[in-house]
Amino acid sequence: MEVKKIFLPESELPRQWYNILADMPTPMEPPLHPGTGQPVGPEDLAPIFPMNLIEQEVSPQRFIDIPEDILKVYTIWRPTPMYRAYNLEKYLKTPARIYFKNEGVSPAGSHKPNTAVAQAYYNKVAGTKRITTETGAGQWGSALSMACAFFGLECKVYMVKISFNQKPYRRLMMETWGANCVASPSTETKAGQSILAENPDSPGSLGIAISEAVEAAVTGKDSKYSLGSVLNHVMLHQTVNGLECQKQMAIAGDYPDVIIGCAGGGSNFAGCAFPFARDKIHGKDIDIIAVEPMSCPTMTRGPFAYDFGDTVQMTPLMPMHTLGHSFVPAPIHAGGLRYHGMAPTVSQLILDGIIRPEAVPQLETFQAGITFARTEGFISAPETNHAIAMVIREAIKAREEGKEKVILLNWSGHGLVDMAAYEAYLRGKLSDHALPEEEIHRALNDIEKLPKPKQYRAGKI
Ligand SMILES: Cc1ncc(COP(=O)(O)O)c(C=O)c1O
Repeated sequence: MEVKKIFLPESELPRQWYNILADMPTPMEPPLHPGTGQPVGPEDLAPIFPMNLIEQEVSPQRFIDIPEDILKVYTIWRPTPMYRAYNLEKYLKTPARIYFKNEGVSPAGSHKPNTAVAQAYYNKVAGTKRITTETGAGQWGSALSMACAFFGLECKVYMVKISFNQKPYRRLMMETWGANCVASPSTETKAGQSILAENPDSPGSLGIAISEAVEAAVTGKDSKYSLGSVLNHVMLHQTVNGLECQKQMAIAGDYPDVIIGCAGGGSNFAGCAFPFARDKIHGKDIDIIAVEPMSCPTMTRGPFAYDFGDTVQMTPLMPMHTLGHSFVPAPIHAGGLRYHGMAPTVSQLILDGIIRPEAVPQLETFQAGITFARTEGFISAPETNHAIAMVIREAIKAREEGKEKVILLNWSGHGLVDMAAYEAYLRGKLSDHALPEEEIHRALNDIEKLPKPKQYRAGKI
């Protein structure tokens, strides 16, 4: 019988994370202080993050040991299984061999606990009592709520209002794990109040929710802020996944020609792809594709520039692909992909030609999710459907070219709490959101006066 799943025993759980900063072809430019425009030092970040995570953020060390207490929690769901998508291959009549790594088996349903658990642990060790954060679709908020429960920390989540209303069960998951979750923009912070004064009907955005969570951390007692994506240490923690993938591909006797993940802030994609990107930097031929929504085309249309990570300009300026910090994406159902920026590491690797960005429209992503569910069974998160849409395109291309490609999909999460989005699709209520150039120009005006990175590139608009 064909082997469907490739399991790793717990003894094969990676004991270290992989840090791509040690192998970047071009050195990263530093984050800048939001007030002075000078490179930020550890002391500038100390009100926001604990020092042990700040050290990890800038560490040049290639491999970093995973503490025993984190490994113990990881074993609840890790190592995660890798599957061969035989049914999807057959349906597409493709000679491609498609593998998918199932990160949806974590208790919270996605890859997000890989870093949530690590961040909660390092905060606990540093003496933090309360963690604040933002969440889009609710996957990150629920992952951090669970992690805080494991380490006895309070957790406060600002959830983008559109998702708060679309996904009540995510909020209830957070409450079940003991967190407090409010809709953002909220009246609880100055940042939220200022947005509501301008637009009382604001659907919210990840940028706004980050502003609220950062403000709550710097003004709260024993509080720190935690980010679910974008930062170097988040990408680092996620590599536990890609390191497992490397072992599982070796067991399958294959090596990926194409690696595909969706990218909101870049963390699930980076987690799967970075260990392989290291191979590519050292000469391997791999097509590594990061997929984003056409309605939030950060990588495919945004410039590489310095920008704030949040809307109210509280975070350091980061060198990244961005649509401008005031950009509020259309209310698509992939809430976790509605972010104006992108991880600086992912952005830099795009400039260096290691990663290839692509954008797909919403309707194609849901069609892909339905095809995947009807062939492989699993119902994917709307974010994950973006990656699946690209897998289908690549598998069809392989058929047309008659090539036996090996495609690795990072299946970042399940969509069992996202059925309202599927209902909207199945009832014909969803549409594609064309993004007019003027809207991008308007948002990019806000970053005109900010310092420019040495490698500044204008966007494709
Ligand atoms: C299932 C899933 N996939 C992908 C993402 C996108 O985030 P990132 O690019 O950091 O992986 C999210 C974010 O919420 C998510 O929940």
